[in-house]
Amino acid sequence: MINVRPRPSNDESAPPENVQIIVITPTYKRYTRIADMTRMANTLSHFPNLHWLVVEDGNVTSKLVESLLQRTALPYTYLLHQTKTGYPKRGWYQRDMALTYLRENYQQISKGYSHSVVYFGDDDNSYDLRLFSDYIVNVKKVGIWAVGLVGGAPFESPKVENNSVVGWHVKWNPKRKFATDMAGFAFSLQSVLDHPKALFGTSCKAGGGAPEPCILDYLGFSQQDLEPFGFDKPPNVPREIYVYHTKTVKPSTFPPYELYGYEIEL
Ligand code: UGA
Ligand code: MN
Repeated sequence: MINVRPRPSNDESAPPENVQIIVITPTYKRYTRIADMTRMANTLSHFPNLHWLVVEDGNVTSKLVESLLQRTALPYTYLLHQTKTGYPKRGWYQRDMALTYLRENYQQISKGYSHSVVYFGDDDNSYDLRLFSDYIVNVKKVGIWAVGLVGGAPFESPKVENNSVVGWHVKWNPKRKFATDMAGFAFSLQSVLDHPKALFGTSCKAGGGAPEPCILDYLGFSQQDLEPFGFDKPPNVPREIYVYHTKTVKPSTFPPYELYGYEIEL
């Protein structure tokens, strides 16, 4: 059981009131998806100020995903957009459709909130509750932090001096303008509205070829704008990682064979 203690009202580390978190999750049917989404739903359910914007890559929505979303009791939107020809099948088109949906519907989705922060949360990663309660909710313009198990390394992180990002601790493609994984940053809804053309598109040329530097560039950010999280501890206190880029192993045998009444996605 998770012991989530209510914060005392005089706690200075309490998250700012009236801030909304919008999590954009591309997803598609596969053996491991419900296992991944169960873990993610259990995490996100802790945050009533969170809107989960899930985009199905397929030609039908999933009953199992829909009922999982209902069980979270979170406000959510479940869209259906199959990847169009020309786009890589890695969630780019779904994130673009989600950004477009937000630009068209933000007044309804963010009603009552004074500030909203958007996060690209893939369906297969492993998220610490503190990613949302301590980092994302405190992002003003664009926040950045370490991601575990990514880029062929145990972690990738920004290099921070005097609370400013001055470079990157990465092994893979260190020339990237923003050397971070999709799980390593979040940005204001305002930046999405201020840059109406910022979309992944079919290919990402800006900032070193990967989709992450591309979208951060299109959203108008520069390295000086980055707000680093997780770097405020004294040097003798170990740093912690709040999000891991994980991949669930699929089964080694596949139906058709007897399912004994179990409903699984295949
Ligand atoms: C890594 C990053 O973690 C992704 O955020 C990034 O989009 C991707 O690289 C990229 O190169 O574009 P990786 O873990 O290898 O991604 O990719 P997946 O986790 O398989 O896919 C990313 C997201 O897109 C997931 O939420 C997945 O469900 C979704 N996806 C993937 C689809 O919607 N359709 C697909 O056909 C494949
Ligand atoms: Mn992934």
